[in-house]
Amino acid sequence: MPVTILIGAQWGDEGKGRAVDWLAAQADVVARYGGGDNAGHTVNVGDTVYKLHLLPSGILRDGVMNVLGNGMVINPVNLLKEMVEIRAMGVDISPARMMISTRAHLITPAHIALDAAKEKARGDAAIGTTLRGIGPAYLDKTGRNGLRLGMTHNLETFADQLKSRIEQTNQTLQQMDMDVLDAQQITEQYTDAVAKLQPYLGDTVHYINQQLRAGKRVVGEGAQGTLLDVDHGSYPYVTSSNPSSGGVLTGLGFGPRHVDRVIGVAKAFCTRVGGGPMPTELDGEIAGRLRGSGDNFWDEFGTTTGRERRTGWLDAVLLRFAVDVNGFTELVVTKLDILSGLDELKIATAYEIDGQRVDYPPSTIAELARTVPIYETVPGWSEDITGARTLDDLPANSRAYLDRIATLVDTPVTMVGVGPEREQFIHQ
Ligand code: GDP
Ligand code: IMO
Ligand code: MG
Repeated sequence: MPVTILIGAQWGDEGKGRAVDWLAAQADVVARYGGGDNAGHTVNVGDTVYKLHLLPSGILRDGVMNVLGNGMVINPVNLLKEMVEIRAMGVDISPARMMISTRAHLITPAHIALDAAKEKARGDAAIGTTLRGIGPAYLDKTGRNGLRLGMTHNLETFADQLKSRIEQTNQTLQQMDMDVLDAQQITEQYTDAVAKLQPYLGDTVHYINQQLRAGKRVVGEGAQGTLLDVDHGSYPYVTSSNPSSGGVLTGLGFGPRHVDRVIGVAKAFCTRVGGGPMPTELDGEIAGRLRGSGDNFWDEFGTTTGRERRTGWLDAVLLRFAVDVNGFTELVVTKLDILSGLDELKIATAYEIDGQRVDYPPSTIAELARTVPIYETVPGWSEDITGARTLDDLPANSRAYLDRIATLVDTPVTMVGVGPEREQFIHQ
């Protein structure tokens, strides 16, 4: 069957972009199904580092069609900016290579302003959003007040609708004591942007289903991660969409019978950016060691916001949960190279909550915040593994670490990242 979906198994930034770029070499279509420019997907080819926010990670492979699906929320000004930047790096971005769903929703400055206003109002309980307007845009979508890309076919009507949305938001912003927006200027800027995107708009549901009927291979590219899912994550410290596997079907519009591979991407340790509980979070020396100094582009500083990521040991309890929620058929483990040189490694295999041992995460954040991880300690390895290209090239202890993860979550590890570069990847 022709569909592979690839999903973040943790809190985002697992290395989905580089894994999709790898899979795209064998694909006809790569499609993003959710989120917006809250995502930051890094792909490193040779000396060039591409940071993709809205463009699917198949854009760097010739002959691949890149779809921005109906489940996405798209800021047209930021999309155009990204298209210009990536094109300037020598990548062909044309309607023959990219299609945007007419059903996808628009993010406007009204959503961005409301995101900031809501975060401010939450004070100490702020979610730590990327401030890209994601939550307010999905709220407008489910509240049936959103603007879809298909509504931009008639630019005059669209301009009127946008202006009235901005004016409505200005009333809310005034009540919240926030600066109001320049409705006229925004309407001109956004109408100009959506006019430029017209050649890219299409019915992506019809397109993908036609491709599937023709036996073409489609990769569904996840953004964010399972633990940020609005249903399955640590609510309310989540994003406003369903990054987990259920979201693929609604976010692209095809049936589950087409899917044969569901690949989870997990880092060899844990990171999180933004607020909310993280049971295995560390501070001190090892946390800094996992994060890196910030001098390398692969160090743990956000691709989208530059924020320092929180770091901790691998949490097999949450990874097992992600296997359940998504039905992973296999796992990609990235950044194994970062663990080289640590004497010993820890993996959380269970939690203690209120004196009770559990091997499944609690469903409320109040309980999750009270969990104490129960760790298993395994030996580390000292060798540099960035040149490994097969499992046999890895030192015995790093192979044993991968085997232990596979056993703990009952899912085979089929691909391993040993460095950020495209070729620094072990696959079976
Ligand atoms: P995404 O959002 O899941 O696509 O991940 P990000 O791009 O936000 O963050 C992953 C970071 O880790 C990026 O800087 C990647 O270049 C880097 N990366 C991915 N895989 C590996 C790996 O195996 N080793 C190292 N050292 N870096 C990696
Ligand atoms: P990729 O695709 C990591 C986090 C934010 C915040 C929460 C809500 O690169 O893995 P939002 O702006 O979506 O309302 O923020 O979700 N978040 C991410 N964290 N990687 C991402 O994307 C993220 N997208 C959102 O930090 O905690
Ligand atoms: Mg990222």
